Amino acid sequence: MHDQTPSDLVAAMDPSRAAFHQDPYPVYAEARSGAPVAYVPSTGIWVISGSAEAEEALRDTQRFCNRYNLHSDYPLSDECLRVLENSHFTEQAIFNVDPPDHARMRGLLTPWFGRSNLSTKLPLIERVVGDLIDGFIDDGQVDLQARLAYPAPMTLVCNTLGVPVSDHMRLRELCDQWVALLALPLSDEDQIAAAHSVVELDAYCGQLLSTREQSPEDDIATELARSVRIGRATRGEAIAIIRFLLFAAHESTKNMIVHTVHNLLRDRPLWEAVVNDPALIPNALEEGLRFEPPIQGMTRQTTTEVTIGGVTIPPSARVHVIIGAVARDPARTPEPDRFDIGRPNGARHLAFGLGAHYCVGAPLARQVGRVVLEHLVARIPGLSLRKGFTPRFTQGGYIFHATWRSA
Ligand code: HEM
Repeated sequence: MHDQTPSDLVAAMDPSRAAFHQDPYPVYAEARSGAPVAYVPSTGIWVISGSAEAEEALRDTQRFCNRYNLHSDYPLSDECLRVLENSHFTEQAIFNVDPPDHARMRGLLTPWFGRSNLSTKLPLIERVVGDLIDGFIDDGQVDLQARLAYPAPMTLVCNTLGVPVSDHMRLRELCDQWVALLALPLSDEDQIAAAHSVVELDAYCGQLLSTREQSPEDDIATELARSVRIGRATRGEAIAIIRFLLFAAHESTKNMIVHTVHNLLRDRPLWEAVVNDPALIPNALEEGLRFEPPIQGMTRQTTTEVTIGGVTIPPSARVHVIIGAVARDPARTPEPDRFDIGRPNGARHLAFGLGAHYCVGAPLARQVGRVVLEHLVARIPGLSLRKGFTPRFTQGGYIFHATWRSA
């Protein structure tokens, strides 16, 4: 059977609608029950929102490949493609590599993000978070995203990669442009501007590798430079990995922190429960990840014709597996639209993915989140939302649900 999604549901699933990116969950609820596998002609994307179908697709690396994950969701103009020829835009960077080569790529990174290496990072994480809070604690008010949730993970990823923290604002702007090119329908002009950002970003990452070839340090850039020298990775791959990590490591962690803190603060007794018992923090973070997964949809492409959930998807089709929809499935999570930090099995969410591509940085993200929350409840127990505060979500296609372009 081919897709027969009702036209009003298909229209509602257009991610460029403001109502969609402010609150996609009602649309996903309708899709999950009425059309768990649906084609959205306005985007040319197949959307998988059913839980069973999502798990099936994520586990099936044969029929749903990652190879095109760093290609844009939307057609790029010839001029944009010409600019991108000076970059490593679609080069292999783990997340867009399929088995068996995927194992080689993961092997380059997992030692850096394993638990034993992480324990050596704990004093640094504590210091970075402590210093950031020192910077605003006496101000009376703060933009928590700009002053803590963003710079804490960004400082740590810069440190692990070997990037000077002084460059982070520029790198963030460039990363935002790159990701917009991947996930959003941009005008021709904006595509070209974003393509120039990718070229600048890759030149920066290439320069970092060259510096580390000359002056090795204890960081990922040095390890990648060594991998290039011994033939374990190409230079283009090493550049693309650094670019991917720069974004992947800070953006989602920032969103995890802001979503969790916001949801605790908007239900005051929950915040007070965590202040009184910080042992609840890991649960609160897991519920934050379930309730508002920072990555809402994972990109895949079919390698062959696939029938899933009774719907046939053609070969070479662009697919998004919507874990944001799975997160609110009442069959998986009772009362899914309630933020509840007391759930048993709270970590049984898909926010870090599933199967071969499960997030390499999950332990680091959890550790950073835990330290941030611990410091906040201990040092600012009276923290509250600004009167009338409502989070403003920006357009993130099917991939993000975040305030990722604000300060
Ligand atoms: C709360 C924070 C984070 C969230 C929600 C998150 C989410 C995800 C998800 C959903 C995937 C799977 C993508 C797919 O299957 O297509 C993934 C992959 C990945 N993440 Fe994260 N991530 C977070 C933090 C981090 C951090 C801190 C790092 C860096 C150390 C990182 C590095 C990676 C890498 C390298 C992959 C690719 C893994 C592979 O393809 O084998 N992430 N992440």
